Amino acid sequence: MKKTSADVLPAGGGSGNEPLLAVDDLHVEFHTRAGVVRAVNGVSYTVRAGETLAVLGESGSGKSVTAQAIMGILDMPPAVIPKGEIRFKGTDVLKLSERDRTQVRGERIAMIFQDALSALNPVFTVGWQISEMFRVHRGMSKGAAMKKAVELMDRVRIPAAKQRVHDYPHQFSGGMRQRIMIAMSIALDPEVLIADEPTTALDVTVQAQIMELLAELQRESQMGLILITHDLGVVADVADKIAVMYGGRIVENAPVHDIYKAPAHPYTKGLLDSIPRVDQKGQELYAIKGLPPNLLSMPTGCAFHPRCPYRQENCVTDTPPLYEISGTRGSACHYWREVLDGERQ
Ligand SMILES: Nc1ncnc2c1ncn2[C@@H]1O[C@H](COP(=O)(O)OP(=O)(O)O)[C@@H](O)[C@H]1O
Ligand SMILES: [Mg+2]
Repeated sequence: MKKTSADVLPAGGGSGNEPLLAVDDLHVEFHTRAGVVRAVNGVSYTVRAGETLAVLGESGSGKSVTAQAIMGILDMPPAVIPKGEIRFKGTDVLKLSERDRTQVRGERIAMIFQDALSALNPVFTVGWQISEMFRVHRGMSKGAAMKKAVELMDRVRIPAAKQRVHDYPHQFSGGMRQRIMIAMSIALDPEVLIADEPTTALDVTVQAQIMELLAELQRESQMGLILITHDLGVVADVADKIAVMYGGRIVENAPVHDIYKAPAHPYTKGLLDSIPRVDQKGQELYAIKGLPPNLLSMPTGCAFHPRCPYRQENCVTDTPPLYEISGTRGSACHYWREVLDGERQ
């Protein structure tokens, strides 16, 4: 008999204290001709059912590579995972066979990709593309699968779904195409959904609508949601907690309100200060000075030190651990107290 994802991983809610998904000390390297690119250097985060984790950081900080490792879609080689665990309901998916992994992918953990808008096939109707999920994974007939596609289009609030199911991708706006991608990602009722910069290509009003849709879908289904973004502005209303990445590490993690109230890492502070604010119209927007680190030759000590206004001598030599500030908050800055107190350097 064909194995189902329930044979591979336990069905139902997460057990006891074990979160739905736990990334634990994950390392990912790319072995390239130019050298070893250390893209992810000991990332740990957790997501519970119904919880939204925002993963934040500049381009190149390792957000997508971490997500690809969770989905099991990294090309290995060149990627190598020398260390770490990715536990889904307590089972380390990195230890599963490729066949078992395939059962998990899409069914239990699904992803909306960064380049979602180009992921739709221009020569097939959207209904055909959505219904493919049900034909391939559930063995449904064409008619039954198409009916499910209409239901899903309704669920992601596409108006006149019954008629529009026969339209082609180019007949939809960017926001509506993103809704179609979201429909495909939730088709099989995943327990964890990873949305990788789902609104980057969209204008601000549509961004907010897509965020609201994701939040609504999550409330209905109690999915664990990982929201990847480089834009701290879009996650404030929807995230429960935030993990800030820099140079393949988590430099600060905290409940979302704590971060907005007072950041505990200079990098987070820089990101917050770069959000445009209505009460500061006309003023020049702050930007963090300098460039993200070169992953082929990371700075010594704290990777952020070349750009950091709080830098002291030991920052150049000693790599800060993720200091525990409270039970739910950590910062990888030797001077987190000063940053938290808002002392100017
Ligand atoms: N296949 C690959 N080969 C070499 N380097 C890669 C590969 N994929 C990603 N990287 C590098 O890993 C780093 C992290 O990338 P990524 O996770 O995509 O960043 P982001 O935070 O913008 O999502 C980047 O420096 C990127 O160039
Ligand atoms: Mg990315």
